[in-house]
Amino acid sequence: MSWRTTAYRAVRPLLFATDPESVHHLTLRALAVAGRSSPGRALCGVVSGVRDPDAAPVDVMGLRFRNRVGLGAGFDKDGAAILGWAALGFGFVELGTVTPRPQPGNPRPRLFRLPADEALVNRMGFNNAGAEALARRIDAARPRLPDGFVVGVNVGRNRDGDVDDYPAAARIVAPVADYLAINVSSPNTPGLRQLQDPESLARILDLVRGVAPNTPILVKLSPDLADDERAALLERVGPSVDGLILSNTTVTRPVRSRRLAQESGGLSGRPLLGATERAIAQAAGQGLTVIGSGGIGSGAAAARLIETGADLVQLWTGMIYAGPGLIGDSIAVTSA
Ligand SMILES: Cc1cc2nc3c(=O)[nH]c(=O)nc-3n(C[C@H](O)[C@H](O)[C@H](O)COP(=O)(O)O)c2cc1C
Repeated sequence: MSWRTTAYRAVRPLLFATDPESVHHLTLRALAVAGRSSPGRALCGVVSGVRDPDAAPVDVMGLRFRNRVGLGAGFDKDGAAILGWAALGFGFVELGTVTPRPQPGNPRPRLFRLPADEALVNRMGFNNAGAEALARRIDAARPRLPDGFVVGVNVGRNRDGDVDDYPAAARIVAPVADYLAINVSSPNTPGLRQLQDPESLARILDLVRGVAPNTPILVKLSPDLADDERAALLERVGPSVDGLILSNTTVTRPVRSRRLAQESGGLSGRPLLGATERAIAQAAGQGLTVIGSGGIGSGAAAARLIETGADLVQLWTGMIYAGPGLIGDSIAVTSA
């Protein structure tokens, strides 16, 4: 464990004494401020421990990524701190999920920590300021972003919307996004995961391709699909996607924590790692491009997902438990 992780673990009880969503907003605000000044950006590099973010660039889906480690969707849904993420050393960030129209999401509390399992349960419900607002923020940040820092946007459906929301959101963000991710796997929008049926998904892909013909398009799947369901899906849509994001949060509860595990929503964090590996092995075995997401709590776990066949990986819950040093640790071990 690096000294950064040890130091973070020492201050963690203070953070964990506060409501998780409030800490989340504070973090985003601090990172947004830090990203705007050069001393702030230098400080970001110190806390993440990323020595050289450009040390091992890779070409994936026709895009150049300065390294293989990115931020997963849902951490910065509205693009509040894009320059801050770049300053921390990430190779890419996936903003969103955004929907065509702004929406408040579910009532609070909607985010819960399960420290014994290094996991979270969330039922945020796509709280976001809408696709137009995000497009404006990306556009404003673009000129100040370093080369090889890729900005993906994850698109979803409004709670009261339908499948046409996917092309509607994609049309708005495609001009400023390096890639698009189609989210049909969040458990917190009623009916959304039923869109993982092969025919529905093929239709959504066609619609999105129609409005964004020149942008790489990925699909983000649920870890709750059975292997044969995932196989059927990959067979049907594999040829028409540029890549897959494996995976989202789970509605299962493979955890020790009892009380908060009862909260409804999606579970993320360490308990997902095994399922993530299995899904990656299946898709990579078919030659598909894969972004690994789910359960990375250490540099070693990030390296394992790359060894299993992921081209890129995304961090999220692991940073809540290990701190920003996880970024440096993950880049160091996946740059070989
Ligand atoms: C609070 C929270 C909000 C999330 N919001 C989204 C989202 O809007 N869209 C999405 O595709 N995934 C979302 N995710 C899922 C993450 O991007 C990631 O796929 C998942 O948490 C598994 O990775 P992890 O174990 O490293 O956290 C969210 C996760 C959390 C914890």
